[in-house]
Amino acid sequence: MYNASQLLEKINAFIAALDYNRPPVGLYEPVEYTLALGGKRIRPVLMLMAYNLYKEEVDDILFPAAAIETYHNYTLLHDDLMDKADLRRGNPTVHKKWDENTAILSGDVMSIESYKLIAKAPAEVLPEALELFSKTAAEVCEGQQYDMDFEDLECVPMSDYLKMIGLKTAVLIACAAKMGALIAGASAQDCDLLYRYGYDLGLAFQIADDWLDTYADPEVFGKAIGGDIVNNKKSWLMTRAFEKAEDRREELIAAMAMPVGTEEEKEAKIQTVKAIYDDLNIGEEAKAEITRLHSRAMEHAAGLGLKPEAYALLENYAKKLIGRTK
Ligand code: IPE
Ligand code: IPE
Ligand code: MG
Ligand code: MG
Ligand code: MG
Repeated sequence: MYNASQLLEKINAFIAALDYNRPPVGLYEPVEYTLALGGKRIRPVLMLMAYNLYKEEVDDILFPAAAIETYHNYTLLHDDLMDKADLRRGNPTVHKKWDENTAILSGDVMSIESYKLIAKAPAEVLPEALELFSKTAAEVCEGQQYDMDFEDLECVPMSDYLKMIGLKTAVLIACAAKMGALIAGASAQDCDLLYRYGYDLGLAFQIADDWLDTYADPEVFGKAIGGDIVNNKKSWLMTRAFEKAEDRREELIAAMAMPVGTEEEKEAKIQTVKAIYDDLNIGEEAKAEITRLHSRAMEHAAGLGLKPEAYALLENYAKKLIGRTK
């Protein structure tokens, strides 16, 4: 059984060998650029790890694992455009380095490339693999639509927030874990447990992302701090703040209406909202919620009846994901 860093090495080598050095350069260079910036590769690693629970060697799962990472990277190109984000993995985003049309079209071709890669899954499981992949891909778009719709709302119920992040983030992580098991020929029950493990981990992962968006060390995070506040995103922090605010509701609404035309204005808005979060202890509550969802994810993993060392791999990887600093 491979550990997480060995699996990361395998998928990194496999993705590095995918060759996007082809014309037209304007279309494929941003694909190469994005994939070369790396990122944590959590989705393919999770897929390899799930597969490795059932199969000793992981060669059969490398194409599907590269498919999910390529799909994820495509969503980032469009997400950064939608979120007006200038920085990703410590580098300029594609729409900043090139332009908006490039982010759209290079993103489109990455999405198509991801289908070419998933199509290389072993023939006997291909229909199921494609079904899961396509269902998940559409759900991510649905989540992204809710994310944007929510920008225009004052606040949303926590249940709507959870549904939104379930779609935009958790289903892809759940799909990664399930796909590994599915392609390895695991039972339907194990596939389902791994999906649930990935889903709860995905919820925790997005809440951690929301926390980091406000509280991360900018040197380490690789993305701009405070983007969620500037864009009036209904992050976990904002959603919980509205639940708790009571007499400070008007203050939050006024803060969301603050102008963001200049860097100084953005900074003032971020500091105003952050001060309210701090008064309400929202950051600490987010951490507690992340821990709760991590435990829930591990309850699903426990149902798999794994050997202790295999269970420990899933547990340690989950801990690493939610304890991340970038
Ligand atoms: C970013 O995903 C988008 C979210 C779902 C929060 P990651 O945090 O996995 O990004 P990379 O691939 O490691 O850069
Ligand atoms: C991530 O949400 C969802 C997808 C990319 C599908 P965010 O917008 O919070 O992700 P980051 O913070 O830009 O990575
Ligand atoms: Mg974003
Ligand atoms: Mg977004
Ligand atoms: Mg974010």
